[in-house]
Amino acid sequence: MDITSIGRRSWVLVGVGAAGIALAACGGTKAPPEVRVATAAASASVSQTSATPAAPKATAATVASQTCAAFAQTVDPYVLRVVDKQRGLPADYRPSDLQTIDDRWAAPGFPNEIMRAQAASAIVEMLSAAQAQGVTLRIRSSFRSYAEQQRTFQFWIGQLGEAQARRESAPPGNSEHQLGTTADVISANSGTGWELVEQFGALPEGKWVTAHAHEFGFAISYPSTEAEAVTGYVWEPWHVRYIGKACAAEWKSSGLVLVRFLERLATAPAR
Ligand code: DAL
Ligand code: ZN
Repeated sequence: MDITSIGRRSWVLVGVGAAGIALAACGGTKAPPEVRVATAAASASVSQTSATPAAPKATAATVASQTCAAFAQTVDPYVLRVVDKQRGLPADYRPSDLQTIDDRWAAPGFPNEIMRAQAASAIVEMLSAAQAQGVTLRIRSSFRSYAEQQRTFQFWIGQLGEAQARRESAPPGNSEHQLGTTADVISANSGTGWELVEQFGALPEGKWVTAHAHEFGFAISYPSTEAEAVTGYVWEPWHVRYIGKACAAEWKSSGLVLVRFLERLATAPAR
């Protein structure tokens, strides 16, 4: 998030609830571009089946057992669907297999993170492997419904003005977070608590995510400042989307921005 040129206060989420967003201003010039605004009702309406709480073996080098094209033939199409500013999701789209992730992987103050089953397992695998290597990462935001995204987007318009908000936050119906396969992972080691700040990308934790996320099936959707020309969003080194290990490996070696990789996949002949 390129906000260094914007002199403004930083906001920290201190509480959420059905009544709305409770925020407290703190000093500094950094602000999180994404705010978790899950309500108790939203959390209660999903499956409460916990993802495996025990840390799985760190299988960072897990080799995909199939090609991305083969995976694409079998997986729910939403997993590989392009979601961007032009191509959105139905307002009522909500995956049916959302699971609550054990709070040991949640950033303080952001409990009950939820993701689709495969993505939930994969993120626990990734965070466990990172932890085993001394890299502490936690989830700060995961599934966001259309309504949650609407509140998030409106919040940032109020904070940043519409033009800047649109560079940092997706309009409702156009966020990958609504897929249930996307999470924001962050480190407390940024000097700013668990805020989502661009400097995360330069930390060991952020570099670890950049280097290893694909090994666990994740792609970084907004991978650089330069990629904003393609994605329409500023660099978000914390924002990872599950696309399966096979596709993530091929995405990584392709060097393509995720949206371009997914477009190419969608138009590739079936193999
Ligand atoms: N911050 C990303 C673009 C989102 O709101 O989904
Ligand atoms: Zn995100």
